Amino acid sequence: MTHPGTTTRIYLIGFMGAGKSYWGRRWAKAMNWAFFETDDLIEAREGMTITAIFETKGEAYFREQERIVITALATTENAIVSTGGGLPCFGDNMALLNASGITLFLSASPATIAARLQTARKKRPLLNGITPEQLPAFIEQRLAQRLPFYQQAQFSLEVNNLDDTTLSSLLQTLT
Ligand code: S3P
Repeated sequence: MTHPGTTTRIYLIGFMGAGKSYWGRRWAKAMNWAFFETDDLIEAREGMTITAIFETKGEAYFREQERIVITALATTENAIVSTGGGLPCFGDNMALLNASGITLFLSASPATIAARLQTARKKRPLLNGITPEQLPAFIEQRLAQRLPFYQQAQFSLEVNNLDDTTLSSLLQTLT
């Protein structure tokens, strides 16, 4: 694990809709660090959207791309990396993240996630075919499967009511 004062990259992990991108962008700006999203890097490499990759090449291919992207990012300096919601749950990705930076689990309740995902389905092929009524149960079930991976993060932060004050003290603790 990296030690305070020498951290050069922070990985944000957590479920879709937890706010990894929203908070990651703000933190990167506040720290004057670069911000990366694994989904964006994959879309740029592949020249197509996440949804199109799932449709034409399949989820397994997408998961391989996630691994390639985090391997490349593991040597990037002064960066906040927002990882796709499923990324920590495949292969030994969590071990790679923990070995190459600070990992921070943004933890949100199923209710918070459901509210955010009702309006933000774009780029989220896993939600295809799931009705608004089915969404809460889908989230509860998927979150339960994923929590054992997310909980391997070095730090965790409850983001249901996160504000900028909590944010500043957190940044001072981590860096
Ligand atoms: C996924 C989450 C998405 C994206 C892809 C798969 C998942 O990222 O990587 O749709 O498996 O949970 P976000 O967590 O940024 O929505």
